[in-house]
Amino acid sequence: MITAIQPPISYGRTAQSGFITTATDLDPYSYQVGYGNRFATEAIPGTLPQGRNTPQKCKYDLFSEQLNGTPFVSARASQQHAWFYRIRPSVAHRPVTTSVDNPNLVASFAATNPSTKFLARDQSWGAFPIPEESDPVDFVQGIKTIGGHGDAMSKEGLAVHAYTANRSMGKTAFCNNDGDFLILPQHGRLDIQTEFGHLMVRPGELVVIPAGIRFKVELPDGTARGYIQEIFGAHFELPELGPVGSNGMAMPRDFEYPVASFDVDQTVWTIVVKLAGRLFEYEQEHTPFDVVAWHGNYAPYKYATEKFVNSATVEKEQSDPSIYCVLMAKSKTAGVALTELLVFTPRWSVTTNSFRPPYYHRNVCTELMGMVYGDWKGSATLLEPGGLTYEPSLMPHGESYERWSEATTTELVPERVNENTLAFMLHISGHIALTDYALEKSGTLHEIQANFWDGFDSGFTKHIDQIDRDLASAGLGGLRRPEKTKEANELDSEIMKR
Ligand SMILES: [Fe+2]
Repeated sequence: MITAIQPPISYGRTAQSGFITTATDLDPYSYQVGYGNRFATEAIPGTLPQGRNTPQKCKYDLFSEQLNGTPFVSARASQQHAWFYRIRPSVAHRPVTTSVDNPNLVASFAATNPSTKFLARDQSWGAFPIPEESDPVDFVQGIKTIGGHGDAMSKEGLAVHAYTANRSMGKTAFCNNDGDFLILPQHGRLDIQTEFGHLMVRPGELVVIPAGIRFKVELPDGTARGYIQEIFGAHFELPELGPVGSNGMAMPRDFEYPVASFDVDQTVWTIVVKLAGRLFEYEQEHTPFDVVAWHGNYAPYKYATEKFVNSATVEKEQSDPSIYCVLMAKSKTAGVALTELLVFTPRWSVTTNSFRPPYYHRNVCTELMGMVYGDWKGSATLLEPGGLTYEPSLMPHGESYERWSEATTTELVPERVNENTLAFMLHISGHIALTDYALEKSGTLHEIQANFWDGFDSGFTKHIDQIDRDLASAGLGGLRRPEKTKEANELDSEIMKR
């Protein structure tokens, strides 16, 4: 008997590869995802050696080259390195010479450095000015150090910079040998070509370029402004999650890494190197962006801060702002952070019977705040997009009396806060020295509002009589007052008689 052919009882499909993001109008590149993964990517299939890193001869006569971001002898969990398979090795270049200096770059923040100052007062800056069209400035020449602590020479500490630029880098690449750059664009996208591939980074995203990686910055929107936090001798990492568990805050899957991409270009390129805050350069007759394949976990990456998963108190009280930490770096003191990047993004504020604005505090850490877009309410120091505020270690700060009055009397209802806003804080364990650029040259330093804190009323003293009655009813006696002299009592009696 002939029977009809039945469909199979199970069927399906197998993925062709791991997940790669899809290009968008704002970003033409695709990325592989996952914070700290050991990636493997090849622009020509079959160019990554298998089971080894340095075969006698690589496919297509590629050169194998290692870049490491941690010393050879490091704990396995902290090991960071990458292997390149490139058209020519990085060493193929002309002699190194000193480069055009960037007078606004600082890499040493010792108290003896005459170009920096430690100040115990808060400061704030308006948006750092973008250069005029007639004054061509690229990303490297447009870096201005605002402050920092420690120094690049001992690989201890960090620097905070602003950058403003109006020219792409063309056939110049940059390599920062001093530390890792965490870049937060505020205005204009950065089209970044690196040895590992391409990254397009817009305001709202951050990009981390670890030390020693060559990259160049093109400006697809014409001009650019933003912030850089540079850390010496450490690498950024995700904060521990503790009781938060395995989900929430900045989630590892949302960090995007470039895929291998190479150019065949045998023309002259200039590589500018920053070492100990000084610029050096060398030429080579080939592009530095000639990596056909790479693998490893020492690579640049980007993250869209809009993806940050806010977790905070949902019933009463306040969480410490560390709950908004995207990335941090460890100091050389066990258990103590060198710095944390906190982001303030749209969220619900829902607590009951709680003082909702930031509580009055004195923080052992220095606080530097910037804003990418939106409005920032409150605080004595004015914060605007493209600007910055500075709060020194352990100096008191908080909200104005008006804001306190409002916050202590308003009816508390669930409300949206930080809508259409991205502000951030660099929470830094260490005193920050401010540079000449920040204090004298930027032209955007705000005047200190000398009488801002004068309006604080002492509501407590209006309740003295009630306090006396309450103490008396508790059998505790009244508040202690200075005893009157005999003369004062006689004067009082006289006044009463009148
Ligand atoms: Fe604070």
